[in-house]
Amino acid sequence: MSKTKVGIINVTGYAGVELARLLYQHPQVELTSVTGRSAAGQKLGKVSPHLASIDLTIEAELGDVDLAFSAMPHKESAKEVIPLLNHDIKVVDISADFRLKNAAEYQSWYGFTHSAPQLLEQAVYGLTELYRSQVASAQLVANPGCYPTGAILALAPAVKEDLIEPDIIIDSKSGVSGAGRTLSLGTHYSEVNEDVSAYALEGHRHLPEIIQELKLLRPQQLPSVTFVPHLIPMTRGILTTCYASLTPGKVAAGKKGEEEVRQLYLDLYKDEPFIKVVEFPPHTKHTWGNNLCLIHPAIDHRTGRLIVISCIDNLVKGAAGQAIQNMNLMLGFPEVTGLEALAIYP
Ligand SMILES: NC(=O)c1ccc[n+]([C@@H]2O[C@H](COP(=O)([O-])OP(=O)(O)OC[C@H]3O[C@@H](n4cnc5c(N)ncnc54)[C@H](OP(=O)(O)O)[C@@H]3O)[C@@H](O)[C@H]2O)c1
Repeated sequence: MSKTKVGIINVTGYAGVELARLLYQHPQVELTSVTGRSAAGQKLGKVSPHLASIDLTIEAELGDVDLAFSAMPHKESAKEVIPLLNHDIKVVDISADFRLKNAAEYQSWYGFTHSAPQLLEQAVYGLTELYRSQVASAQLVANPGCYPTGAILALAPAVKEDLIEPDIIIDSKSGVSGAGRTLSLGTHYSEVNEDVSAYALEGHRHLPEIIQELKLLRPQQLPSVTFVPHLIPMTRGILTTCYASLTPGKVAAGKKGEEEVRQLYLDLYKDEPFIKVVEFPPHTKHTWGNNLCLIHPAIDHRTGRLIVISCIDNLVKGAAGQAIQNMNLMLGFPEVTGLEALAIYP
């Protein structure tokens, strides 16, 4: 049986190379075309030696494919994606360009006027666990941001089941690859090594995405969310810790309540191939290089707060892996195809 042809727009960034690495192992698709502005005309294996087994030349324009991934920066991505949609090509966009439903939010959070607001309704938000059936029939999937993936999956059961008050704190720690490959002072080795810092206290661009999705999970209540991201000296991974007060009377006191919450998470995620509700606080190393999201709910009995910890690899479940999970559904393949690798440890 012939394989489905897929392509990557912008294979030179971190999300792009991770897509190429994962697609190489996929048994039902063939990566036939990759583009890259600064590297057009060069062999992929020369630009990214770890991908030398993939015999492709980086092109300026995408070739003939059935499905394309865009790993372009925001604002630039839409310009690439729109012509593909007009040619009936399926697209998974890893940028933020189609994630927000309200076009006005692009101006306030990203500083540009959206060029195709009519597509925002059509685009399916690609958090697979929440939108599985819509993803399967979508032409355009907006792959979620890395921070929102870990935060929304951690909070979804609690918000959906009205387990917590809508005043939520999300504290996330990300490895430096989350900031991409483009050079900046803040991500230099000597700035980041042996350093931990919070940033974007005035509001990170992933906040509207988190609020949009939490609102949809429980439309009766407007969530009030404080989200503080941190940069930590590691390459990959995001550890997110969410805090919110338990809704009075919703769960039993003491250990019994904690067991009830854990059971609720286990029940809601029982059929999810890439979510594991774990018994102990997870480590980012437990998801290094794979598509899992590990989640650990707990209760702070002294304050009556729910604490939920999640971890993902920002480049896999937070980007390329989730994009392939969505592609599998869009092309009618089993959802886990090509994504069953275990984490690399230590
Ligand atoms: N990194 C993550 O963990 C992560 C997770 C989820 C989503 N994403 C999203 O994925 C996309 C790519 O992120 P990344 O982390 O891979 O970024 P990156 O490593 O910084 O790569 C960005 C790439 O874009 C190219 N580029 C920059 N401006 C361009 C322009 N105007 N036109 C054409 N190419 C341009 C650069 O290549 P040249 O200058 O060499 O052409 C560079 O290779 C972004 O939208 C990001 O938000 C990233």
